[in-house]
Amino acid sequence: MNIVILAAGQGKRMHSNLPKVLHPLAGKPLVQHVIEAARRLAPETLCLVYGHGGDVVRAALDAPDLTWVLQDPQLGTGHAVMQAAPHLAPGGTTLILYGDVPLTQVDTLQRLVHAARNALAILTVELPEPTGYGRIVRDAAGAVQRIVEDKDASAAERAIHEVNTGIIALPTERLVGWLARLSNDNAQREYYLTDIVGMALAAALPITTTQPQGEWEVIGVNSKVQLAQLERIAQRRNAESLMERGVRLADPARIDVRGELICGRDVFIDVNCVFEGRVVLDEAVEVGPACVLKNAQVGAGARVAAFSHIEDALIGPDAVVGPYARLRPGTELAVGAHVGNFVELKNTKLGAQSKANHLAYVGDAVVGSRVNIGAGTITCNYDGANKFKTLIEDDAFIGSDTQLVAPVTVGRGATLGAGTTLTKDAPPDTLTLSRVRQVSLPGWQRPKKAKK
Ligand code: UD1
Ligand code: CA
Repeated sequence: MNIVILAAGQGKRMHSNLPKVLHPLAGKPLVQHVIEAARRLAPETLCLVYGHGGDVVRAALDAPDLTWVLQDPQLGTGHAVMQAAPHLAPGGTTLILYGDVPLTQVDTLQRLVHAARNALAILTVELPEPTGYGRIVRDAAGAVQRIVEDKDASAAERAIHEVNTGIIALPTERLVGWLARLSNDNAQREYYLTDIVGMALAAALPITTTQPQGEWEVIGVNSKVQLAQLERIAQRRNAESLMERGVRLADPARIDVRGELICGRDVFIDVNCVFEGRVVLDEAVEVGPACVLKNAQVGAGARVAAFSHIEDALIGPDAVVGPYARLRPGTELAVGAHVGNFVELKNTKLGAQSKANHLAYVGDAVVGSRVNIGAGTITCNYDGANKFKTLIEDDAFIGSDTQLVAPVTVGRGATLGAGTTLTKDAPPDTLTLSRVRQVSLPGWQRPKKAKK
């Protein structure tokens, strides 16, 4: 089988510098959805027809299994497929897809390809508002006679609601033979791929039609309004599949998954969370409202409270994060660790049962188990040019408002008094302080305003 994805159209109505097919839907370029569906059919050749200026598209998507075909200028869908013809593996079936129709389901395509063994198979759909689409014209017996483009249609033909989705499949040899005979004798002076319907009729090749499960499978994106509509459909479907697999969502209309979200049983996700990249939530994880998680793994029973922002981080089982926590790349929390409000961690391991509950910055650090990091603690890991490490060993207690000037080590069981600025290693099991001794000056008076 061959698959040809048409993606040379300009997408003027997107009013964007980004090529249309690269606009993201559920976190992936539109055409990436089409490529992934195509791959699941395991074609021998996977051709992408791209347009003038489409080098950006090529650079963004290039992969060893893609055959790139430039169509310049763009003279219609028939012309686009003509450019791909020399690259098609002989024999078998060829399936034509559109790069801006992202949600077609693999089983719909399989049904279409199956129907095209010895036929021209067209994916059609009944639309309440068919304006702009090619209409499926049938005879009295219901057999397909032709596809007429909106701009070429008579008033009676415009009244037809069954439309061509553009997705078709047919035997490769027939396609290649017919492409050479297409003309542009029509209202738009384009080479219409749909003219092969007449050729199939003349050659007595059966013409069959297949319908998708839902209209949304064949909706194309021409504007940002349509892009937003499809985004909601994609998100809704994803939310439903999460719930079917046992996830509890506070509101399936208020979750956005822009990548892959893998959940164990009894996960609960509150409203307005955004998941990007690959996120894994193990059994019974709870995610509070308005959290953002990107490329993260959260262990069983852990809780991420409201307004937390987590990126490239590993959260151990039964850990508690947030509200208002920020875990930056390279953060690893061991089992039962706590990270509270307004705490930022970067490239830091926090050991089992250790806590940083309030207002802290811990970066480039390795923190042992059962450590308490007091409010306002800061690792001074950066001298303006280089980054340095902080090591805090098991059972240490870091008093509030401490600065750890890295590189520095706090020994096992050590205590740092509040307000310490630690510039040398703190020995184990010892209280270390760097404060000036507290004094009270009897008789001291506040300055007074001088008389003029
Ligand atoms: C085409 C069909 C129409 C169908 C409609 C569904 C033809 C003649 N018409 O309409 O029956 O109802 O799709 O959306 O086939 N493209 C290229 N190169 C070109 C022209 C188009 O690669 O020269 C690509 C576009 O990027 C897009 C797809 O083909 O992915 C469809 O193009 P578009 O202009 O949107 O469709 P129409 O030709 O108007
Ligand atoms: Ca067109």
